[in-house]
Amino acid sequence: MNFQQNISLKNYNTFSINVNAERFISIDSVYLLKQLLKTEKNFFLISGGSNMLLTKDINKLVVHIDIKGISIDREDTKDVYITVNAGENWHEFVLWCVSNNYGGIENLSLIPGNVGTCPIQNIGAYGVEVKDTITKVEALEIESGKLVQFSNEECNFGYRNSIFKNVAKGKYILTSVSFKLTKNEHNLNTSYGAIETELALNEITKPSLKNISDAVIAIRKSKLPDPKKIGNSGSFFKNPVISKEQFIKLQKEYINIPSYPITKETLKVPAGWLIEQSGFKGKRFGEYGVHEKQALVLVNYGNAKGIEIYQLAQKIQETIFEKFEISLEIEVNIIK
Ligand code: EPU
Repeated sequence: MNFQQNISLKNYNTFSINVNAERFISIDSVYLLKQLLKTEKNFFLISGGSNMLLTKDINKLVVHIDIKGISIDREDTKDVYITVNAGENWHEFVLWCVSNNYGGIENLSLIPGNVGTCPIQNIGAYGVEVKDTITKVEALEIESGKLVQFSNEECNFGYRNSIFKNVAKGKYILTSVSFKLTKNEHNLNTSYGAIETELALNEITKPSLKNISDAVIAIRKSKLPDPKKIGNSGSFFKNPVISKEQFIKLQKEYINIPSYPITKETLKVPAGWLIEQSGFKGKRFGEYGVHEKQALVLVNYGNAKGIEIYQLAQKIQETIFEKFEISLEIEVNIIK
């Protein structure tokens, strides 16, 4: 096995935080992973590195999951069933589906990260969550070294949430994800305001999967920083859910406060709006700051330390609590 010593993880996390890994290994097959698990139990896993903030050096083995491969398991006249290995890049997989006219994940275009981590936080955007297309997740149980399968139900998906963030956290290494996608009668999701506007702008009335994917790419490019240019991890916080009672109180002071109904008694308020109202949008503190076009995204302009970004996040949480009495929950994994 090809172990490396003392390497920088800067190119392995989309925040581009420069921390050191004491030992490092890239794994490109389930077989190798099983072999590794026979001798190594205490390690730090990294895949696309798109949902983590590294705040210190990793003084143990870092295992980089790089298992590639896409296979069509079966298809019928309506649907196609596909299994994708964990190390495949998410956006490239989306583009491959769009070019083959497989529908269901086109709204999730341009989300950074790898396929193997998409179920963990149940990635979502523009009215679609990945849970609606996942049929099965395969994973290696670290303790036993055995391959196990989770059905969609067993994954216990929620808003930016799954079993892998809760009871199963740290116990499994996800090796592949299986999807069911449509072949002809696509269930297009174009009702999200920004998508409607983008399609109308291009005079598209009967959108194809490619039209929707292109629209999403255009919207994301206009609002979200490209991690290859400015380090970031997408939404740093979850959108908080508050009671109707609290919302009505806030509305008296902030007439334009946006919201989405969740239940009869609760609403979701965009964290980006709360952060913008608190004056943080576009604020730069040397090497790090809050993105100028989407306040939900914290950025590394080059040489920021993870701890500095974490401290900024805590300052934002405190300010939002003082101003609105709302607790913002961090969505990104903070590696302390
Ligand atoms: N808003 C502001 N100021 C900002 C940002 C947003 O006032 O700086 C307001 C907007 O005007 C709008 C509302 O907040 O009224 C919602 O904004 P947007 O459509 O940009 O979506 P979001 O709720 O901020 C969520 C996801 C994104 C996803 C978009 C589109 C979460 C935590 N974030 O953001 O996901 O792309 O919806 O569906 O749910 C990610 O998870 O990394 C991510 C980017």
